[in-house]
Amino acid sequence: MALTILGIETSCDETAAAVYQTDGTIKSSFLFSQVALHRQYGGVIPEVASRSHLEKINIIVEQALKNAGISLDQVDIIAVTSKPGLPGSLLVGLCFAKALAWAKNKKIIGVNHLEGHIYSSYLEHKVPFPHLCVAASGGHTSLYLVEGFGEYTLLGQTLDDAAGEAFDKVAKLIGLGYPGGPEIERYAQQVAFKDFFNYPRSKIKSLDFSFSGLKTAVLYDLVKRGAYDMATKTFLKPHDNQLKQQVASSLLVCITDIFLNQLSRALKQFPSVKAVTLVGGVACNKYIRQQFTHLCKKKNVDFYTPSPKYCTDNAAMIAFVGSYMAQHDQYNDLDLDIF
Ligand code: KG4
Ligand code: ZN
Repeated sequence: MALTILGIETSCDETAAAVYQTDGTIKSSFLFSQVALHRQYGGVIPEVASRSHLEKINIIVEQALKNAGISLDQVDIIAVTSKPGLPGSLLVGLCFAKALAWAKNKKIIGVNHLEGHIYSSYLEHKVPFPHLCVAASGGHTSLYLVEGFGEYTLLGQTLDDAAGEAFDKVAKLIGLGYPGGPEIERYAQQVAFKDFFNYPRSKIKSLDFSFSGLKTAVLYDLVKRGAYDMATKTFLKPHDNQLKQQVASSLLVCITDIFLNQLSRALKQFPSVKAVTLVGGVACNKYIRQQFTHLCKKKNVDFYTPSPKYCTDNAAMIAFVGSYMAQHDQYNDLDLDIF
């Protein structure tokens, strides 16, 4: 008989809960995004995030159960994100999950948030093993070789900023809204994703990534064009829509090229891989998805990427990881910690 898993995710700025069954059905996936709360600060404020989780966690879990048409008594296992993330935020979800597990005598599983992203494609697709996974979000940018459920090797990761962070920082630089990724995509689309400024592509020999130099390159290029004042940290052309479009488009093309370069290199190093997945918030980007599709077609490997709602933080991916961990009896005790 299929087991029912309640997933809980509070590692950053989304309070999320989901119900997943081991027969492969997503019964519900529900969340509250704090993005509007953090927008005024241009980034996530940890203290604000954890207090908002505390306020919302009960309502979100109740709603996820309601949407799934079940009561808490019908849940077999609670899977909760236990690392990595903002400590204050993680603690809210973990303590809530522990309290439920203790009061209702349920089994509990601590799930690694990044593992959640790595397997998020499986919520909708049967992805063959072995495959390469590019995970890109606001906090992480990594490349994995994935050989089975729970069997993955880190091949490379960002040495400085995450890709999403580069989008967010450059967007802030030219006065676009938060989060920057979707804004950059919107402006880039208006000029058909052309590369105007040919920003430098990082020349890393390994499978790692680096994006902080790119942000600096954009900054210096703006200064050179008389569009940014370093002394006052001010963007001097807030009404120049064309410049914003050109910066956004050039940045998006450059970041995509960096991904494609590293992916090509990894495909060469691991010729036995059957597929590629692209996951995490940055995977919402239609241009990046399209370019990955083209490259994979050329290299003769399948390409999978989740629907946008499963690219960004969600609890369905946490419940999914919980489902295979449960099948291997990888349960935790109530002393489960966040690190
Ligand atoms: O996975 P996620 O929701 O949260 C983290 O775990 O960080 O990722 C958020 C990041 C942000 O940096 C945001 O700018 C980026 O994903 N993002 C995008 C797009 N949508 C979200 N980046 C590029 N293009 C997008 N359409
Ligand atoms: Zn995430």
